[in-house]
Amino acid sequence: MDYVRIGTVKDLGSTKIKSYKIFGRIIAVLKKADGSYEAIEAACKHQGADLTTGERKGWTVTCPRHGWKYDLETGHCLNHDSLPLKKYNLKIDGEDIHVSLQPIEE
Ligand code: FES
Repeated sequence: MDYVRIGTVKDLGSTKIKSYKIFGRIIAVLKKADGSYEAIEAACKHQGADLTTGERKGWTVTCPRHGWKYDLETGHCLNHDSLPLKKYNLKIDGEDIHVSLQPIEE
């Protein structure tokens, strides 16, 4: 599986989330309470807004455009019938974050 470096763990800061644009996709990296990291698609399934710019409560985020809500831990949309957000494999090497080019097949 091919990985690409997208940033460093310092990018996440106190918000514990950061989105990156990579090859036309928006991927968010989350730092969870247990210190682990996850990478997930962060483009809204409705019209593609960056979900990391929406209001967040815990890992539930509301899209800033039209209010679709997502659980960023599971990828599921909470208020519309929608495909889930795709997850990506992630590796931490020192402070560098690398994500897989292909999403995890579920
Ligand atoms: S773009 Fe996200 S709800 Fe419309």
